[in-house]
Amino acid sequence: MFAMTTHRQQISITYDFPVVFTRNLFAPRNRHLRDAIATTDTPAPHRCLVLVDRGAARAHPRLSDQIRDYFTAHSDALQLARAPQLLAGGEAIKQTPEPLFRIIHALQTARICRHSYCIAVGGGAFLDAVGLAAALFHRGVRHIRIPTTALAQCDSGVGVKNAINHANAKNLLGTFAPPHAVLNDSLFLDTLPRPLILDGIAEAIKVAAIKDAPYFRSIERAAPRIAAGNPTTIRRILQRCALLHLDHIATSGDPFELGSARPLDYGHWSAHKLEAITNHRISHGHAVAIGICLDALYAARLGHLPGSEANRLIRTVHTCGLPTFHPALLQTNSRGRLLLLDGIEEFRAHLGGQLTLTIPAPLGSRIELHEIDIPLLTHCLHTLSAGVSP
Ligand SMILES: NC(=O)c1ccc[n+]([C@@H]2O[C@H](COP(=O)([O-])OP(=O)(O)OC[C@H]3O[C@@H](n4cnc5c(N)ncnc54)[C@H](O)[C@@H]3O)[C@@H](O)[C@H]2O)c1
Ligand SMILES: [Zn+2]
Repeated sequence: MFAMTTHRQQISITYDFPVVFTRNLFAPRNRHLRDAIATTDTPAPHRCLVLVDRGAARAHPRLSDQIRDYFTAHSDALQLARAPQLLAGGEAIKQTPEPLFRIIHALQTARICRHSYCIAVGGGAFLDAVGLAAALFHRGVRHIRIPTTALAQCDSGVGVKNAINHANAKNLLGTFAPPHAVLNDSLFLDTLPRPLILDGIAEAIKVAAIKDAPYFRSIERAAPRIAAGNPTTIRRILQRCALLHLDHIATSGDPFELGSARPLDYGHWSAHKLEAITNHRISHGHAVAIGICLDALYAARLGHLPGSEANRLIRTVHTCGLPTFHPALLQTNSRGRLLLLDGIEEFRAHLGGQLTLTIPAPLGSRIELHEIDIPLLTHCLHTLSAGVSP
């Protein structure tokens, strides 16, 4: 017998959270962290566990003390559940499940509940791992992100996803879990090594190329200043990138990526595979720089993007100081097949359903492709391997 009634259940949830761009977040006079927490429905003081990426703490040796002083200055509203806890960040935190369980253990030891806060201060990998732990613990506790790298401030930290890697697949285990607040402090950018600044710039070029032609031109013009490390230029470009990401999530109609199209993943099918082939010796941002060059060249060879525009993109990547090629792209298996090509099927599986690759066509807008011409792509790889002509 079949059931005779179907009730259609509807649940609407609106996510509304601040994404702040500030400087010196932990100066006691800076109220952004307090305001992000103290406006909520639960009674003060609000208990918080603060987890800190050891890389950020190393670059800012007074960070733990500053956090403690901040909580002391705002003790009427905020309470540290325990002293800020340092954990190793970087891709290693995502590579095995152990760090995830260590974070969950820290949340439990600190007695974090669904009315208290898990605050993560760190790079994109750190935020991904802590974000996943916060989403799983008690089926989800309030999570505040304080991104400390350029890529995390302009891209990963302002999004709604988290994940760790598993079975040699990037971001295989994760959830969609919008944060309670994102607080970007430009002080963290001051101490970032140049490659970590450029990781964020790669994501900025990516989003500009498929969404915003004037923004792309401004990055193109600014490329020599970016290469020289001009902080004002870099801050401006990263902030615009963050706003474009936020706008995409809010207006694309698919914030939790149920469809197959994933415009913000332009260049990422090969980037994710390159990261895996190199055992993460190449950073995500640098891999993205290469991935967007490859797909732009491929788009040009297919006739979707003017060749001059593909060249402008590749030249902009190069002038900023980012790579446009990596030898591992041409690595083959014992049968002579390019390892990179497995990334196509892995990306399709990651999307679910149909393979959908976003390419710029022309710069500032985009189209989607559903198949890849392998000989043409291989030709593009060889073209990129020859380097950027002066
Ligand atoms: N969730 C998402 O939507 C999303 C989107 C894009 C990228 N990502 C993920 O983000 C990760 C990359 O993040 P990332 O580029 O921030 O690198 P990262 O998190 O790997 O950090 C790189 C290094 O910088 C250190 N560090 C952090 N802050 C620092 C600071 N202020 N000064 C000096 N060193 C500092 C870290 O300890 C680490 O050693 C990847 O795992 C990628 O998959 C996630
Ligand atoms: Zn990315």
